[in-house]
Amino acid sequence: MSTQTIGIIMNGVSGRMGYRQHLVRSILAIREQGGVLLADGETRVQVEPILVGRSEKKLADLAAKHGIEHWTTDLASALADDRWQIYADFLVTKARASAIKQAIAAGKAIYTEKPTAESFEEALELARLADDAGIKNGVVHDKLYLPGLQKLRRLIDSGFFGRILSVRGEFGYWVFEGDWQEAQRPSWNYRAEDGGGIISDMFPHWNYVLENLFGRVESVYAQATTEIPVRVDERGEPYEATAEDAAYAIFQLEGGITAQLNSSWTTRVNRDELVEFQVDGTHGSAVVGLFGCKIQPRNATPKPVWNPDLADAHDYDGDWIESPGNREFENGFKTQWEGFIRHVVEDAPNEFDFLAGARGVLLAEAGLRSSAEGRRIELPEVTLDGISVEAGLAAAAAAEPVAAPVADEVR
Ligand SMILES: NC(=O)c1ccc[n+]([C@@H]2O[C@H](COP(=O)([O-])OP(=O)(O)OC[C@H]3O[C@@H](n4cnc5c(N)ncnc54)[C@H](O)[C@@H]3O)[C@@H](O)[C@H]2O)c1
Repeated sequence: MSTQTIGIIMNGVSGRMGYRQHLVRSILAIREQGGVLLADGETRVQVEPILVGRSEKKLADLAAKHGIEHWTTDLASALADDRWQIYADFLVTKARASAIKQAIAAGKAIYTEKPTAESFEEALELARLADDAGIKNGVVHDKLYLPGLQKLRRLIDSGFFGRILSVRGEFGYWVFEGDWQEAQRPSWNYRAEDGGGIISDMFPHWNYVLENLFGRVESVYAQATTEIPVRVDERGEPYEATAEDAAYAIFQLEGGITAQLNSSWTTRVNRDELVEFQVDGTHGSAVVGLFGCKIQPRNATPKPVWNPDLADAHDYDGDWIESPGNREFENGFKTQWEGFIRHVVEDAPNEFDFLAGARGVLLAEAGLRSSAEGRRIELPEVTLDGISVEAGLAAAAAAEPVAAPVADEVR
């Protein structure tokens, strides 16, 4: 067994995602297990992080707490140093594109949180710059690695659903306003001018979930609302919430599937998990969450009859069967990190690149535009030398509305 080391610049590591998911649950967990095993079964790649941020104190405290040797507030010097081959970005969305451009110029491989940029134009520019520079690039697609969604993937691959008809998803929970209880999310999430908003936060996730499990998103209709207009920030100061905190959306997918997803920071949870998707197909249905997955095949489907005069004693919950995991699921952020390190070191495949990230940003932009204009927006296909946002969305604006797909007979 031989071991090599890869140096990783971790920028924004004091933040929520940077610290918990990327540093502790991914990179330190990989370090703890002795690195990433390569395809030859004999070589391990150990990780060596350097923490980057704006506060010397926070970085020094984190480094001391976790036994990390390197940290700096000087991003440029880390980027200029050959010991560090990967640049990883967990900054607030607003600060991301400019930092990534510096990392591209320095020739580093890059791994980043989503959304990759605040606008599609900028997200596509990053994808082009990275491609021109010939550097490897990856974007977090964590939800695909959730146990519930992995089980869903397995159901789809096994043909369980027959023809998939529709997807209905509920994501959200109550985020406290910050006055009588502290908010559990950073205040920038609620300010459009700081890159906030539930659409730019969640639609990039919905894009990769939908396109990887069901088909490309061809159009979106969204209704965005700001339900709580004034919130209280981390310093106890009231501020105007300029970004939407709820979005109700319908997506039309390649192949005629309709997906309907609600995203809300202003709803109280009455489901098993913070996100849940119901998938209905001709041969069966499934309800999946972060972890759980229950199924109802067509030959175990009850025949409800509508009767408003009688209370219905049927136990509908009891009609569902829990689908087993049949294997261990690791933290999704860590699993994707391991895949990206293999991509960098031994050229293992990676579909989750900046172009995939740009498609997510495009969906967010189209969602906001749909809401502002009160109409459905078609989404052009995105390639590196393809469509610009102006051309794509202008073409969509001129396009005739698409007729709803006609359902065929249940076999
Ligand atoms: N994959 C997911 O499930 C998921 C979940 C939440 C957030 N995110 C994304 O992760 C990113 C970070 O979100 P978070 O919730 O951790 O935010 P956060 O506010 O907790 O952390 C942001 C980090 O950026 C740094 N920062 C803030 N302003 C900066 C500036 N102007 N210049 C340089 N650094 C700056 C902060 O010091 C902090 O380290 C966002 O892009 C967000 O969309 C992803």
